[in-house]
Amino acid sequence: MKLYINEKNRKGHIEPEIYGHFSEHLGRCIYEGIYVGEDSPIPNKNGMRTDVVEALKKIKVPVLRWPGGCFADEYHWMDGVGPKESRKQMINTNWGGVTEDNSFGTHEYFELCDQLGCKTYVNGNVGSGSVREMSEWVEYMTLDGVSPMADLRKKNGREKPWRVDYFGVGNENWGCGGNMTPAYYADLYRRYQTYVRTYDSNAPIFRICGGANADDYKWTEVVLRECFAEPAPKEVHGMMDGLSVHYYCGAEKGPHKGSATDFSEDDYWYTMNRALGMDELIYRHGAIMDQYDPDKKIGMMVDEWGCWHDVEPGTNPGFLFQQSTMRDALVAGATFNIFNRHCDRVKMGCIAQIVNVLQSVILTDGPEMILTPTYHVFHMYRFHQGAELLESCLSETKKVGNDKYQMDNIQQSVSQDKDGVITITLVNTSLDGEETIEAVLMEETPKKAEGFILHGGLNDYNEFGKEPVLYEKPLDVQLTQRGVKFVVPACSVVTVRVY
Ligand code: AHR
Repeated sequence: MKLYINEKNRKGHIEPEIYGHFSEHLGRCIYEGIYVGEDSPIPNKNGMRTDVVEALKKIKVPVLRWPGGCFADEYHWMDGVGPKESRKQMINTNWGGVTEDNSFGTHEYFELCDQLGCKTYVNGNVGSGSVREMSEWVEYMTLDGVSPMADLRKKNGREKPWRVDYFGVGNENWGCGGNMTPAYYADLYRRYQTYVRTYDSNAPIFRICGGANADDYKWTEVVLRECFAEPAPKEVHGMMDGLSVHYYCGAEKGPHKGSATDFSEDDYWYTMNRALGMDELIYRHGAIMDQYDPDKKIGMMVDEWGCWHDVEPGTNPGFLFQQSTMRDALVAGATFNIFNRHCDRVKMGCIAQIVNVLQSVILTDGPEMILTPTYHVFHMYRFHQGAELLESCLSETKKVGNDKYQMDNIQQSVSQDKDGVITITLVNTSLDGEETIEAVLMEETPKKAEGFILHGGLNDYNEFGKEPVLYEKPLDVQLTQRGVKFVVPACSVVTVRVY
């Protein structure tokens, strides 16, 4: 099979934030997974686990969303600042009913982002919070000068403001964020976002409007219609920089999603078919956005996505802790190829969630840490961050699947970085057919090439206390006169770099 690459046709810029992450006060994501406190025997810097932070740095986390999720619309930020001993204890009603001691709050979040070297994405509370609470949080975080909130921040030990790159105005307001209708949320959005002030014109805050659940196109339509309504179309564009979409996939729909590890080939085809549905989703939400915003000034922010399976047996059902197999890695690789190919509209993707929850890149157990197969996909795809998408197409495709779901065997995307290096990423969704790929460049003659592969059994996963079975390995790549040639085995994710 040939993969034609046209270096002359650059299709758009791949924002690094497409490879973003999401961290919520949910189960063992923040507490234990990331934050263990300064007095913990687990090595840490200012309370953040050193092993986890160091591993995350290797995948170049571009942005980290916090504090939720559903948690965001019940979070009152004031409870999480000031001396830890006097911070309020609360019940995490969404996730397991456990006590939240607020020891990880605003200051700790910015410390974490500082250690990771990533952009910040704070999600505000619309569901149960006031406009004043939200605007004061923004003032607390970003105002340099004299004001009640800036003074409070200084009193709490932080002289200079932080930079808030992205601010989400509510989360899933059609559900856990207040069960609102789109029209009601749109009105609230207009009002709340007014007070998300940018205090430093050199550091504008990118405001994200709460978007649809999966294929709820009506939500997108109504929210855009209401927020772009006449008579002030020019001003209205200023109300929204991004619109979110959430999309999860797993073995089945409904309350029983199926085991993360013990699943059949049919479950896999269902999951992969649903994962590939991301393409249609982006296309259809994007088509609605195009009607209002043909110049694509507003970003589509897929700020929650990933595989949602049943929790691991014996774990708290409210903690959503799941293992991660090669199936999840294939989903991650295919999803990133879709995001890359829609980089003209998709400006952010945040996998849910970074550590110890749904499709996490890292799992921890006490002092132990494992890297999931999805971690390796992030690592193999990191070269796309900030690169330019190139036109690419396959000469032919083969259909694979079962009686119900059929799909192309190879999913791909190609980009070129600022040094001219071309990155090809492919997923072979087939469970039994390898594919030889001959990549043909239109213009350049390659001088050097290297490849990396993640390959294993569909149900394989890395376990605590055992040698990892899934990790990145080198892949043989041959230089040809006009490109490169390599084999993509069944059930694998591949990266090839062409210099
Ligand atoms: O990621 C888990 C939950 O899924 C989030 O809190 C919520 O936004 C979504 O429904």
